[in-house]
Amino acid sequence: MERAVVQITLFGLLLALVTTLPNKDDWDIYSFHINSTVTSRYATTVITSRVANRMDEPKEIEFQVRIPKNAFISKFRMFIDGQEYDGVVKAKEQAQQQYTEAVSRGQSAGLVSSVGRTLEEFKTSVNVAAHKKVTFELTYEELLKRKLGKYELQIHARPMQPVKDFKVDIYIHEQAGINFIDVKGGLSTKALANAITSTHADKQAWVYFYPTEDQQKTCDSCGDQGMNGDLVIVYDVKRDNSMGDIKKSAGYFVHHFAPSNLQRIPKNVVFVIDQSGSMHGRKIQQTRIALIHILNDLAEDDYFGLITFDSSIFHWKRELVQANKENLDSAKKFAERIQDRGATDINQAVLEGARMLNAHPREGSASILILLTDGDPTTGVTNLEKIQSNVRKAIRDKFPLYCLGFGFDVNFEFLEKMALQNNGVARRIYEDSDADLQLKGFYEEVATPLLTDVSMIYVGGTNLTQTNFSHYYNGSEIVVAGQITDNNIETFIPQVVAISTKRRVVFSDTNTTVQSTEAVSDSNIQRVWAYLTVKQLLDKELQLSGPEKENANKEALRLSLKYSFVTPLTSMVVTKPPGENTDVLHKPKEGETPQARQPLHGHAMLLPDIHRRSHPRLRVISGQAAAPRKTHLHVLVSGGIITMYDYSLK
Ligand SMILES: *[C@@H]1O[C@H](CO)[C@@H](O)[C@H](O)[C@H]1NC(C)=O
Ligand SMILES: *[C@@H]1O[C@H](CO)[C@@H](O)[C@H](O)[C@H]1NC(C)=O
Ligand SMILES: *[C@@H]1O[C@H](CO)[C@@H](O)[C@H](O)[C@H]1NC(C)=O
Ligand SMILES: *[C@@H]1O[C@H](CO)[C@@H](O)[C@H](O)[C@H]1NC(C)=O
Repeated sequence: MERAVVQITLFGLLLALVTTLPNKDDWDIYSFHINSTVTSRYATTVITSRVANRMDEPKEIEFQVRIPKNAFISKFRMFIDGQEYDGVVKAKEQAQQQYTEAVSRGQSAGLVSSVGRTLEEFKTSVNVAAHKKVTFELTYEELLKRKLGKYELQIHARPMQPVKDFKVDIYIHEQAGINFIDVKGGLSTKALANAITSTHADKQAWVYFYPTEDQQKTCDSCGDQGMNGDLVIVYDVKRDNSMGDIKKSAGYFVHHFAPSNLQRIPKNVVFVIDQSGSMHGRKIQQTRIALIHILNDLAEDDYFGLITFDSSIFHWKRELVQANKENLDSAKKFAERIQDRGATDINQAVLEGARMLNAHPREGSASILILLTDGDPTTGVTNLEKIQSNVRKAIRDKFPLYCLGFGFDVNFEFLEKMALQNNGVARRIYEDSDADLQLKGFYEEVATPLLTDVSMIYVGGTNLTQTNFSHYYNGSEIVVAGQITDNNIETFIPQVVAISTKRRVVFSDTNTTVQSTEAVSDSNIQRVWAYLTVKQLLDKELQLSGPEKENANKEALRLSLKYSFVTPLTSMVVTKPPGENTDVLHKPKEGETPQARQPLHGHAMLLPDIHRRSHPRLRVISGQAAAPRKTHLHVLVSGGIITMYDYSLK
């Protein structure tokens, strides 16, 4: 068990004690089920945890689970003593009031916080009378994104104790047929591997994971506290039809388009690499390694350019050159010598990258601009809006800009906005031993363009999600959802028009029968539409300003409320038995740095115990991880704030 020594600067009071995690004799999670159903890549997951208070006195019982960042929570319920308490999704501002009131009354307020790369933590608690039980039930939904030729469904299990009746049930139904399915992740290792059964028919797959209590203590990150890890279901669907799958139900359709039988398009790629002083050490080392790998992967008919920047710009060559052996060898030598120094002039560097691509028009090719930076612009033009407007003018929708933000010192929202404004995406690169692999992995996603200028056309369709895409890459997927006008399938004609190498191609397979499945499991086509629409409106809101921004915001909020999605615009207010604290759950934005919201790994359980034992009136209102071993907390004592330091020994 982890030992932690806590020093509290509370009126000079010094405390030292040992971590206690939930003890089965106090409260017992006697059943923990995760049930995930995936239909047409849309996953709905329900986590049900049943807990008994074994004590002779009332006990505050916590429910704490981790869900994928990409998912929206859509339902939360508690059952206590035959009574049901439903979470209610409200506009964030409205819920904020309740939140503030709760905090000002000295009550704790629930949080959804960002954890690591892919997960968010949902946490709430409720007071349960002596020898009574509580059932927590959380539902979340997500559209699985195809990356590098596969979909991944991540199930995180960390019930905090070994659980007698622990089950994960996964059911996948794909009309197109399942090509392969694999189970990966930390929970598929060691003795736990025996607890998995995976079966797979043509269109359906089932994965069951039923570990015994003993098995639950044996995985790489499992121990006396039970399991702590992921089960990752990896699969892909069959694709015999170039037009892809179109499914419809109750007036809505969703189209998955991912042809792979196309020729690759040669690309023109410019890498703009930050070498400012803050890249010092491992970051610059990993960047060099990744760049050299990436250069090795360029094809001979690709053209490329390489710029490094700090307060000045350094060209490897002023113009794009062909990726032949001689040029690549020379570029790799340049990459090996990249040194960290100076400030960060993002504006000048990105504009120069755009100039190089603009100066190199090549018919039948796909151009890509990739920016890697780890900080905010500190020299040259530093006004963020001015940079964004300069970059937009330089690129003029001619090629996508991808922004990779290295670490947490970057203003991620700035990078995300700039990428979205230029048909690209932003990605965070986490400072870790595998950062070079993350960089390389991102590059691989865009390494093989198959189509450019893709227009998805739906005659007889309305309320469509995004239909124009600058590039389509091998291994990815274009997804469009919408409504069918008057639900009339006769007049609904889907078509895809795009450029492949030097030809204009039209996909309009008249044989494509739009699968009309009115089965219960397909009632979620409308939810797929809502999910995609909300995600895209949130992206749009970020890019826009003025009344357009407001409209996107309003519509995203309206749909979030209608479909009961907890998004960055809404919050879930957890209703509880009378007299109890109100928890308000907010979804964090990706741009938010973890400093503000990082959960107190392993200590979350410790803190309530400290204050309950020693100072019943102490309450943690916010936590901040300043450094891995030093946790900085604000604690509210009868209305006053004190600071508490936590030095934990791992
Ligand atoms: C899982 O959820 C699906 C869909 O809600 C339901 O049909 C199924 O019975 C559930 N399975 C289990 C084991 O609870
Ligand atoms: C695209 O990916 C598929 C599957 O990974 C592969 O078989 C195919 O060769 C790739 N196409 C090109 C042009 O690289
Ligand atoms: C999509 O592209 C087509 C053809 O390039 C164009 O006519 C249309 O206006 C574009 N639609 C949007 C919404 O940008
Ligand atoms: C459509 O179906 C007909 C008959 O089944 C077949 O002959 C034809 O080749 C198909 N067309 C396409 C584009 O697949």
